[in-house]
This record gives sequence, C-alpha cells and structure tokens, in this order.
Amino acid sequence: MIFTVVGARPQFIKAAAVSRALAAAGLREVIAHTGQHFDASMSGVFFTELEIPEPAYNLGVHSAGHGAMTGRMLEKLEAAMIVEKPDVVLVYGDTNSTVAGALAAAKLHIPVAHVEAGLRSFNKRMPEELNRIVTDHLSTQLYCPTQAAAANLSREGIHAGVHAVGDVMYDMCLASAVRAEERSTILGRLELAPGSYAVATIHRAENTSDAAQFARVIDWLSGQARERPIVMPIHPRTAKLVAGLDRELARIRIIEPLGYLDMTRLVHQSAAVFTDSGGLQKEAYFHRVPCVTLRSETEWVETVAAGWNRLWTSDRYEPRKDIADYGDGRASEKIAALIGSLSAG
Ligand code: UD1
Repeated sequence: MIFTVVGARPQFIKAAAVSRALAAAGLREVIAHTGQHFDASMSGVFFTELEIPEPAYNLGVHSAGHGAMTGRMLEKLEAAMIVEKPDVVLVYGDTNSTVAGALAAAKLHIPVAHVEAGLRSFNKRMPEELNRIVTDHLSTQLYCPTQAAAANLSREGIHAGVHAVGDVMYDMCLASAVRAEERSTILGRLELAPGSYAVATIHRAENTSDAAQFARVIDWLSGQARERPIVMPIHPRTAKLVAGLDRELARIRIIEPLGYLDMTRLVHQSAAVFTDSGGLQKEAYFHRVPCVTLRSETEWVETVAAGWNRLWTSDRYEPRKDIADYGDGRASEKIAALIGSLSAG
C-alpha cells in the first residue's frame, strides 16, 4: 500500500495526476492531508475539481512557524504510518509537508518515493531548498521532472533510484486542457478579452516577509501594468501585505485564489505571466505564454534556457525553443509503474 502525504496547493495538482495513474495500475493508496493549506479556495476546490480521492487522514496542522509546523506534522504522520504500515511513502515537491512525510517514513524504515526530486535553487535561505535537500537524501525512489534535476542529484552523490520521468504537472495540464476550456467561466466573470491582460502571483517568503521587498515587487508590477492590466489571484499570505500597502494598485486587479481549471484558463489566454511560483513558471511555458520570474534564481533553468522565462533581474529572453524535458504527459504512468515495484498492492 502507498501512503501519500500532501498539504499545500501545488501538491494537490501533482497528486491528482499520480493518484489517477496509481488507481489505473490497481495500486492501493491512503492519502494523508497535513492541513498546511486549509481554505476552501486553497485546498477543497482542488480535491473536488481534480477528483482527488478523499484523504483518510486530515491532520489539521497549519499557520505555525517552520519548526512547529514541521514538528507537529512529523508526530502525527509517524502515528498514522505506524497504524497503516505502508510499503512506501509518497511525497511531493518541497514544502514542510514534504519533509515531514519523508522524515517520518525514513525513521520508520519505510521507503520514501519523492516526486519532483532533484530541483535546486542553490539558495539555502529558501525554506523550500532545505526541504528539497533533506527529502532527496532520505528518499529511495527519486522521480525527477528534468535532466537538470537528475544531474543535481548525481552531484550530491545520489545515484540509486533516480529516474528522470518527466513532469507530472505537464500531465495534469494536458489532461485538463479541454475541461478547462469547457467549464471555466473566468474570462466572462472578470470581463477580460483573450490576450489583453497579464497574470501575476506572489507568495514566496523572500518577497512577502519584508514590506520593503514586497513594495519593490509591487512597483515593478505597476510598471508592467502600464503596458496591459494585470490580474493577480492572491495567496492569503500576500493578502495580509496588500492590506497594509501604502501604494495605489491602479491596473493591478487583486482577485481571490482560483481553482485549477480557472487558473489554467486564465493563464492560457493571457499575454504574459509574472510570478515567484515554481509551478506557474512551467505552466506559463505549457501554454506558451512568456514568463518573468520575480526572484533572483529559478530551479526551472530549462524554461530560461529555452527563452520562455527570464529572471526579473535580466532584461532579455534567450532565443525561443521547445523543452523536451517535461515529457509527453505520461510521467505519472511511469511513476506508477516504478512505485508498483515497491508496493505489495
Ligand atoms: C507553502 C510552501 C511553499 C509553496 C506554497 C504553495 C513551505 C515552507 N512553503 O508556502 O513552498 O510554494 O505553500 O502555495 O512549506 N494560509 C491561509 N489559508 C490557507 C493557506 C495558508 O490563511 O489555506 C496562511 C497561513 O495561515 C500562513 C500563510 O498563509 O499564515 C502561509 O502559509 P504556509 O503554509 O506557512 O506557507 P505558504 O506561504 O503557503
């Protein structure tokens, strides 16, 4: 049996793709939701829209400092794993939920499978970088979305169990394209014409834990908004900062966080994406929309090399080309086949 740990918004999207493939392969999965993201718009909507199986465990851990949050998750996940006795624990990405799941499993001698292994920003001030390094070094199966990620692991001496399978978010994007077009009413609701606007998101600690840095990001976005209006679905962490902002947000339209289908549609029809999210940098490329990353480095280096993404510290894109790394929409199937060899069913 596979014990899956999820907790934060991007993990629901990745788990939706892989859960489908696990079910199709006849593998039994028990899902634990740590509770890290808990608002209906940050969690519930993804389970409903993407038909993710109901979690067997809802641990209710959120809104605490990194140590307290990770520690509480660790304790509760360990207790659940002792009861469930899984063959393998499956974790996603780089959040506190990821590292708590990996550490709980490794201490119980349960194999850990990590989806989105090997990403590195080489900036250890990012909480996510610490979570990635620790999780990768505890994992027995490491599913890399790109060749660059696999090479990072090799440089750290991790060779066994490394598989460059492609990107599960790309699987989800392909699987949902038609549904997003048919079901999402976001453009009508916001009265937006295709191609007339840009999309922005900001939530990273490096941009939101300091008011002066947040103001710099807003000023940069305001400059861009002179060219075309910006729609900005807002993370709860960022909403608190916007409330205290002493600047006009002319032509930056703040809206509530969106579900997956609405966000897919909004990005698909946009003219540009400005973000500090990892997932959105890639999604912009999936929809062939140019992106500017509001950070001083990115883990998704191939999006920059292929000319679809640039850091806001650089003023030009590389020549544009396609990216082969993300695969053909069957990364989740490959993961199900690999993880099946660890699970007794
Ligand atoms: C977390 C991840 C980050 C990931 C992001 C995706 C870590 C260290 N960070 O950051 O890697 O990119 O998720 O969105 O794990 N909040 C709500 N309602 C919610 C969710 C959060 O009000 O549904 C509030 C929390 O109470 C907290 C703040 O938002 O005050 C930040 O939430 P937290 O889970 O600590 O980190 P994120 O910034 O979401």
